[in-house]
Amino acid sequence: MAAIVIIGGTGPEGRGLALRLAAAGEAVVIGSRDRARAEAAAAAVRAAVPGATIGAGENHEVLPAGDRVVLAVPFEGLAPLLATMRDRLAGKLVVDVVAPVRVRDGFCELAAIPGVASVGELLQRELPAARVVSALKNVPAHDLAALGTPLEGDVVLCGDDAEARATVAALVARLPRLRPLDAGHLRNARYLEALTALQINLSRRYRAHPSVACPGLATPASA
Ligand SMILES: NC(=O)c1ccc[n+]([C@@H]2O[C@H](COP(=O)([O-])OP(=O)(O)OC[C@H]3O[C@@H](n4cnc5c(N)ncnc54)[C@H](OP(=O)(O)O)[C@@H]3O)[C@@H](O)[C@H]2O)c1
Repeated sequence: MAAIVIIGGTGPEGRGLALRLAAAGEAVVIGSRDRARAEAAAAAVRAAVPGATIGAGENHEVLPAGDRVVLAVPFEGLAPLLATMRDRLAGKLVVDVVAPVRVRDGFCELAAIPGVASVGELLQRELPAARVVSALKNVPAHDLAALGTPLEGDVVLCGDDAEARATVAALVARLPRLRPLDAGHLRNARYLEALTALQINLSRRYRAHPSVACPGLATPASA
């Protein structure tokens, strides 16, 4: 299967995802605004996962490598990114992991997004020819980096294209002990992002890294 492209894969979240996906046997390509930074991140993943298939390059160069593209840049970086890559993201399955949060006076809150209620909906509006799935927002980079420790919990994902959701669910299911939970409509991204802010506030208060778990959802979701 084609590689998973991670735009912003040099940051802790993107690199952590690259690490876990590579360990699960996926081919990954790391994108950056700077080729040397991408190559350094790829080398670090290769060192941690011997035999991994990892590519690297500038963001615009790596896009053709795969149809599944993770956007792992900060919220503030989305607008400039879209300005240069909008056309090249057409037709892709875009995995949105962005948590539009900011910390003020020690409290994490959601950033206001003009005109829409979530980053997921913003991306789908700006990328009408892409299929956006919001997912993995609640999986901290700190946990992803600890390759020897299995991840725990449920990964809630949402998007308006059922096939795209199923593709991302299958990807999440490749990460040992993580359970994908298909929440349906992309409009759920606003709650997923709010939940992430709560999760960060809990982690600051308890000095821990809480995961999200939804016991009681044993049967497949209805359409
Ligand atoms: N950290 C977490 O625990 C966590 C958990 C869940 C979700 N997330 C979300 O995942 C995304 C990445 O998180 P992170 O902590 O890895 O973020 P980060 O370190 O701030 O940024 C990730 C990468 O994005 C690129 N970038 C930074 N500013 C940019 C800009 N203005 N335009 C384009 N690219 C830019 C940089 O790569 P280059 O300089 O190499 O281009 C950077 O290494 C964020 O949206 C965050 O909300 C993070």
